[in-house]
Amino acid sequence: MSVPGLDIRPLRIPATMAEDDGSFAEMVAVRNETEAAALGSYDLAPDPAGLLIEYHDRWFDRRIWVARVDGRIVGRLFVELPLEEGARIAVVEVEVHPDWRRRGIGTALAEIGEAAAADAGRFTLQAWPVHSPGASGGRRLTPPTGFGTLPADDAGVAFQLRRGWSLEQIYRISRVDLRESAARTEDGLRRGREGAGDAYDVVTWPGATPEEWQDDLALLYSRMLTDAPMAALTVDPEEWTAERVRDTDARAEQGGYLLLTAAARHRATGRLVAFTNLYLPADRTRPGDQGDTLVLKEHRGHRLGLLVKAALHRAVAEHSPETTAICTFNAEENRYMLDVNEALGFVPIGYQGVWQKQLQA
Ligand SMILES: CC(C)(COP(=O)(O)OP(=O)(O)OC[C@H]1O[C@@H](n2cnc3c(N)ncnc32)[C@H](O)[C@@H]1OP(=O)(O)O)[C@@H](O)C(=O)NCCC(=O)NCCS
Repeated sequence: MSVPGLDIRPLRIPATMAEDDGSFAEMVAVRNETEAAALGSYDLAPDPAGLLIEYHDRWFDRRIWVARVDGRIVGRLFVELPLEEGARIAVVEVEVHPDWRRRGIGTALAEIGEAAAADAGRFTLQAWPVHSPGASGGRRLTPPTGFGTLPADDAGVAFQLRRGWSLEQIYRISRVDLRESAARTEDGLRRGREGAGDAYDVVTWPGATPEEWQDDLALLYSRMLTDAPMAALTVDPEEWTAERVRDTDARAEQGGYLLLTAAARHRATGRLVAFTNLYLPADRTRPGDQGDTLVLKEHRGHRLGLLVKAALHRAVAEHSPETTAICTFNAEENRYMLDVNEALGFVPIGYQGVWQKQLQA
């Protein structure tokens, strides 16, 4: 199939939005429209400056190709190569605007992405697309985890299956209305403090991580990949240092975000043993983007997850009263985290498929 006037090429990633010739912003708009077509809202839509910082992360090689028809962007390919020593995976994701589907554009983009991964020596591909809810009663797919389903007639589901990918896991996308849930925040803090007793206290801060906590945060970030449910996915190692924490915090600021963090300090050792963080975009009336949340395994069972997340919601009210909502992503089998989120007022708004494909080496 050929589309007259179709042109696919790498997108130049600008150093700052002031240096964008308009292509990066146009790509973000098409990305957001495509995602909203599946999700049913623009709740997750990043602004261009906010998305740009992802491409300046030194620990990943992230690239974009755009498909244009007569000069207008109609689709994109995203490829991510983790740059850690021994990394094996590549993220390869394809999006085509709903007005331009079933003409082979998605296939053309996917072929470029798979070839780019193989060229880089990456033969395990992963993708995390947002899927539509699907009509009730239609045929649905269940991943090997047994948690969650996706509609078989969703365009992305059909496309991935046709290209030989397997569905490994499902992520629930949830949203909380902070005003409606204010009483839940207070209740969560009370119950969290009860569980933590005298053994832990809460520390919260806006912006960059204070120097005294950078090493603790590095440890917590590095455990995200080993302590969170990862189904049967291949997981590359991530080494975190205080320097990487500083870099991540600095990029958040460059992207216009206010980063808020809440952590639990183990009084006996003085170390942070649980944390959660949140990215509030430059337009503070837009939903906040929940970052990572983790309680170290050895400190679980004391309601520290509830405590830090309730403290984070309280911190939002203090530092950004104009923020009215937060969106978060959780593995559908991550019952502990979902329990905490449900207690704080999060409700499901959509689902993400976690797909994997093994290329022949
Ligand atoms: C999935 C997506 C990229 C497909 O883009 P596209 O340009 O329509 O893809 P193609 O035209 O190359 O489709 C290739 C094949 O996939 C399958 N397919 C694609 N969309 C389908 C649909 N809605 N229903 C059934 N099969 C579908 C078909 O087998 C199709 O071949 P055919 O048209 O000859 O029958 C697009 O629908 C999209 O952007 N969806 C949202 C993002 C997403 O889910 N991405 C998944 C990969 S990360």
